[in-house]
Amino acid sequence: MSRLGPGGTREHFDEIQRVYAVVFPGYDLEDHRRRTFRQIESAGFEAVTVRENGVLVGFAYGLPLSARSTWWEGLWPPPPDGFAVETGRRTFAVIDLAVLPSHRGHGLGRRLIDGLLSSRSEERATLATVLDNQQTQRMYERWGWKPIGQTPGVEGETAEAFDLHMIALRPEAATSS
Ligand SMILES: CC(C)(COP(=O)(O)OP(=O)(O)OC[C@H]1O[C@@H](n2cnc3c(N)ncnc32)[C@H](O)[C@@H]1OP(=O)(O)O)[C@@H](O)C(=O)NCCC(=O)NCCS
Repeated sequence: MSRLGPGGTREHFDEIQRVYAVVFPGYDLEDHRRRTFRQIESAGFEAVTVRENGVLVGFAYGLPLSARSTWWEGLWPPPPDGFAVETGRRTFAVIDLAVLPSHRGHGLGRRLIDGLLSSRSEERATLATVLDNQQTQRMYERWGWKPIGQTPGVEGETAEAFDLHMIALRPEAATSS
């Protein structure tokens, strides 16, 4: 597995997008490029990729939520006081995780997300799934992620609403406060 910072992600973006286009058919690729290049500029952005015979077959990437993040806006049910306060160092958001259909079911998805989170210094990680995507949500829950609630997608997002999940990255970090 390779770990990529901003420069490496830009360099390998076309390969990443080839997988993205297969895994998320119908999404606007120009929008994905714009969105991802903006995210790459964010402090702390990181990606991981996995290859077979030199060909990129899966990736995951994410970034820490900034103090001005709108990630938790409209969260329902409302979280406890202080839960949604971000500092730029508190929460790592996993933005995308994808493995080519031909390579699924062999543990690559789990390795990618574990690899992405293994060296993070944030106290917790979060991810969003399309509303009621039960199969994927059950998978994350088997991997230890806890459901947090729902948020409405804001203008320009890829879906109208999201289910959010969270996991503690350090044993002492609570997920609920
Ligand atoms: C989600 C995804 C990355 C998982 O990739 P993967 O390499 O199959 O992941 P793993 O093999 O590590 O684990 C998949 C889980 O589904 C189960 N599974 C079994 N057969 C499977 C199959 N044919 N395809 C997918 N998952 C399967 C596995 O048992 C595993 O659950 P477990 O860890 O509790 O045993 C991949 O299915 C994918 O790209 N899906 C479409 C994009 C997506 O939904 N991304 C996440 C949205 S945020």
